[in-house]
Amino acid sequence: MPVVKHQFSPKGACREVMYCRDPEVLIAGPAGTGKSRACLEKLHLMALSNPGMRGLICRKTATSLSSTALVTWRKFVVAEALNAGVVHYYGGSAQEPASYRYANGSTVVIGGLDKIEKIMSSEYDIVYVQEATDLTENDWESITTRLRNWQVSFQQLLADCNPSHPTHWLKARCDSGQTKMLHSTHEDNPILFQNGAMTERGLAYLDKLDRLTGVRHQRLRLGNWVAAEGVIYEDFSGIHMLSGVPEEWKKGEALDHVGIPLSWRRYWAVDFGFTNPFTLQWWAEDHDGRLFLYREIYHTRRTVDQHCKTVLKAVAPEGRWLEPKPTVITCDHDAEGRVVFERETGLSTSPAHKAVTEGIQAVQVRLRDAGDGRPRLYLLRDTLVEMDPELADSSKPTCHYDEIPGYVWLRRKKANEEKEQDEPKKEDDHGCDAMRYVVAERDFGIRAIFRSVLCIAMLKSRNSAFGSPTRSRLR
Ligand SMILES: Nc1ncnc2c1ncn2[C@@H]1O[C@H](COP(=O)(O)OP(=O)(O)O)[C@@H](O)[C@H]1O
Ligand SMILES: [Mg+2]
Repeated sequence: MPVVKHQFSPKGACREVMYCRDPEVLIAGPAGTGKSRACLEKLHLMALSNPGMRGLICRKTATSLSSTALVTWRKFVVAEALNAGVVHYYGGSAQEPASYRYANGSTVVIGGLDKIEKIMSSEYDIVYVQEATDLTENDWESITTRLRNWQVSFQQLLADCNPSHPTHWLKARCDSGQTKMLHSTHEDNPILFQNGAMTERGLAYLDKLDRLTGVRHQRLRLGNWVAAEGVIYEDFSGIHMLSGVPEEWKKGEALDHVGIPLSWRRYWAVDFGFTNPFTLQWWAEDHDGRLFLYREIYHTRRTVDQHCKTVLKAVAPEGRWLEPKPTVITCDHDAEGRVVFERETGLSTSPAHKAVTEGIQAVQVRLRDAGDGRPRLYLLRDTLVEMDPELADSSKPTCHYDEIPGYVWLRRKKANEEKEQDEPKKEDDHGCDAMRYVVAERDFGIRAIFRSVLCIAMLKSRNSAFGSPTRSRLR
């Protein structure tokens, strides 16, 4: 067996977690404190020292996992062992999940809870859940039933997260003593602090976190479990997040390349930006009027013509459209942006209904139960075309979903008005604006009325979904 040298010096809660043998342990704290690194190091250490151990690294979805924890795992944790051939990567098969296989018979499986059959048919000694606040308590409890491989003297559900709202089920589970909570701090991470003093990287990183505001600052800089005051979409919760459109809602229809029925209308919304993220959201509407966000661009420092290339690549990778063209593209009032967008895509756009309060109310109504036990607005998970690393580095929202907890009402007194008025905070609101445009487009305004009259007239001729907007040059 080759000798493999690997060094890791944990501190504070990151050290405590290495020794903790409780059946359920959560390490919680601000962003960048070394939580994920410590959990991954623990798995690796256990796999090396307990032949035959089975571990699992998971997150709510497989896609979110591969862009985060697995990078740290490969780059910092198992790098030397991979090089020395002590660990091999196995890419998985239709039945079996991907895994890292150790020469001593240990295995660390990789998976998303969206592919639950693949990972849950096995038994494990330790399961590490990254960003555990994304899970439901049901997800959590079903993982606990898989912890019975007994190649290690203790079995553990290990998890990390940034703080969320104070009434989160996971916080309640810790408060009740069922799960042990460890609190990590920035001082735990030697990249940020050395001998009690901030390093150069620490200064730069904490400066970014200091620039966050509101609930993001509280949670990601200070590590507090707080709810934002005056959250606008209070009813937004896990029920509005789906891994995909459920099969029963597709009713056996023909699907496009992303698995959405071809007969469902598409709506796009654009919020232009350069220093602030440019946002384009792709929404599909089923025949019961439910809206699904199925793709989005959320990226800074790119020009509109650059974004248009991304758009065309997503919808028509080889020049032929693989999904229905949008019925309407509703945009914020950036005349120049719209001109470039129309020129580069060959699609026409419409100015968005800008009535803010009405638009927000229409979204709020859609988030509530529509009488059939279901809301009428959903976000699919992992909709991002590409993550903006600059936003991720500064812990800013990297997609529309990230904005929602911090989208809050502010009390403002406008000049020449007596009373204070509530208005949404105009920061990290780009996806929220785009969503409001789409809902306003659907739910009120002259175009919505005109469209419903037209829909009744065309009820029998279904095949109208492809080819709606004018001026299209991609046929
Ligand atoms: N003890 C340590 N030694 C060296 N690097 C560390 C240590 N702890 C954390 N890091 C590095 O700091 C960065 C942030 O750590 P991470 O675990 O992703 O933080 P968190 O999960 O708390 O957001 C990663 O690049 C990680 O490798
Ligand atoms: Mg992490």
